[in-house]
Amino acid sequence: MITHQLNANNVSHLQVAETILKEGGTVAVPTETVYGLAADASNPVAVAAIFAAKGRPTSHPLIVHIANVGELENWAVDIPEQAYKLAQVFWPGPLTMLLKKASHVSSVVTGGLDTIGVRVPSQPILQQILQSSGLGLAAPSANPYKRLSPTSAKQVLEALDGRINAILDGDECTIGVESTIVDLTKEEVAVLRAGPISPSELSSVLNQPVSAPVQHSIAVPGNVADHYQPKTPFYLISRADMLAKMRLPSESSYFVVLADFPADESVNKLLNKISMPKSKEDFARVLYKTLHQLDGKNLKAIWFERPLQTEEWLDVNDRLVRASYSK
Ligand code: TXA
Ligand code: MG
Repeated sequence: MITHQLNANNVSHLQVAETILKEGGTVAVPTETVYGLAADASNPVAVAAIFAAKGRPTSHPLIVHIANVGELENWAVDIPEQAYKLAQVFWPGPLTMLLKKASHVSSVVTGGLDTIGVRVPSQPILQQILQSSGLGLAAPSANPYKRLSPTSAKQVLEALDGRINAILDGDECTIGVESTIVDLTKEEVAVLRAGPISPSELSSVLNQPVSAPVQHSIAVPGNVADHYQPKTPFYLISRADMLAKMRLPSESSYFVVLADFPADESVNKLLNKISMPKSKEDFARVLYKTLHQLDGKNLKAIWFERPLQTEEWLDVNDRLVRASYSK
């Protein structure tokens, strides 16, 4: 299969992307979180091609992306009031809501479950495609199963060239980690995957408790322990262990440290060291990019300094633990 490389700044390329989607093809598209691998959610054959391209087990459900909250009723039933409250504040944006699926929605999309994940993305190019095509787009992150999510078209191309119909280049993702997934199908509202919107933010809009992610039995890839992994052995370690390690000669390892890492001549001279941005938002934006870059260097190991363990950093900590080879 030839993977067409399309540029979102070119109007005719955008139309090509839309046509491919309408005809049942697969197109990697930018979203504000990570690149998604999109196909027409109402076409089970098109959706099956997503699973094939990623090598993803068919029991792992996909998120359906829609243009606005007005389309929610085309995909879900028994929608609770909470969904509309959250949509008002957080849509378009990085929030996926789990709801009861409408009966006509193919179970290929939902991995056989009777619930459906729905999100209204804010990325302007994707918004334009959703609005002009009128489609609902099933789109998981555009990475091979268990690998790092992509935040640029180049990363998608490296991993999925020849396996999908097109890649639409729409610049780097502005958020950089996957959406928060909130389960609204039960009495108790629960975050199933940590993301840019925290449980407390959801809780204050809903005016009710919202639980943070725990290990659960629902078949979500985000719940697989070794999801989001670089190919290079990756270790998440404390500041003290980092300093000790850095004093050992180690030519083919890389050290990723937090912004406030102490200046220390002996350490600074030694090594391959990069420091991560100080703010959580900037850190999240470059996280996957940093890991992709290091993963391309054929290193023996990546040693990554563990960030703060606060609610604000919940999503990046979650992704780092999953990336880690020692749990
Ligand atoms: O930010 C995002 O959410 C990105 C962009 C492309 O929108 N998408 C994304 O999709 O991260 P994916 O497939 O890599 O992760 C979606 C997660 C999976 O863990 C999936 O199992 C879960 O959402 N999910 C989707 N529908 C579900 C359902 N009905 N019940 C439980 N989990 C569901
Ligand atoms: Mg994913």
